[in-house]
Amino acid sequence: MKTRGERIPALTAYDYPMTRWLDETGVPLLLVGDSLGMVVLGYEDTTLVTMAEMEHHVRAVARARPRALLAADLPYGTYATPTAAVENARRLVAAGAEAVKAEGGRAIAEQVAAIVAAGIPFCGHLGMLPQSVREEGGYRIKGRAEAERAALLADADALVAAGAFGMVLELVTPPVAAELTRRVIVPTIGIGSGPDCDGQILVTLDLVGGFPWFTPRFVQPRMDGVAQMRAAVGGWLAEVRAGGGGGRTR
Ligand code: KIV
Repeated sequence: MKTRGERIPALTAYDYPMTRWLDETGVPLLLVGDSLGMVVLGYEDTTLVTMAEMEHHVRAVARARPRALLAADLPYGTYATPTAAVENARRLVAAGAEAVKAEGGRAIAEQVAAIVAAGIPFCGHLGMLPQSVREEGGYRIKGRAEAERAALLADADALVAAGAFGMVLELVTPPVAAELTRRVIVPTIGIGSGPDCDGQILVTLDLVGGFPWFTPRFVQPRMDGVAQMRAAVGGWLAEVRAGGGGGRTR
C-alpha cells in the first residue's frame, strides 16, 4: 500500500462483535492493542496487562476471522530478552494473531530480529511509548528536541534493519513523523503524529465515543456512542418502570 501511495487505516479491536463490525467496514489492519488494559479492563495504564489477558482478547478477536491483518501487542515485560520475545510472540500467534507489535527501537532490535527469524511478522512502535509511562512520568510528545529527533531516526533505522514490516509512530511531532515516513521503506502508521504518515491508527473506542471519560486531544470522536447507549438504556428503564419493556410478543 505504501508503494502504491494508498493510505493505511488501522483500528484497535478487543472482542468478537467489535471485530465483526470493524471488519465489515473494510479496515485493512486491526490491532489487539494493550490499550485494552485501560479502555476495557479499567487499569490506570498499560503496564498491568498480562499475556493471559492479551491471549484471551486475541482469541475472541480471531474467532471473528477478520479479513484484516490481525496484529497484537506484546504486553509490558514480556520481551525483555530475545528468547522471551519469541516465546510470547508465539503465544499470541497461537491465540490467532498474524503479527505482533512491541514498543521501542534500538533497545529491542535483537528481540525484533529474533521474532522475525522465527517467522512472525513484526510491527514497531516509536515515539511516545505507553509502556514506559511510569519511567517517563507521563505521556509526552516526542521529536521536539534535536536529540529526540536523532534518536527516533536511529530507532526507525534499527527496526527496519531488524526486519519490522511497519511501525506505529505515536505522538511524534508532525515534521519528524513526515521525515521518518520519507526515510523508511516500510509503512509508518501515525497516532497523534500529524497527517504525513503512511497510515493512521486510533483506539476504536475513542473514535466512536465509547470511552468518554478520557479522549486524547488529537482525536475527534465521530459519534457519541456512550450517550446513545445511555439514551437507549434509559428509554428501556423508563418503559420497564411503567410496566412495559418486555419486548415484542407474538
Ligand atoms: O495499544 C494500542 O492500542 C496501540 C495503538 C493505539 C497504536 O498501541
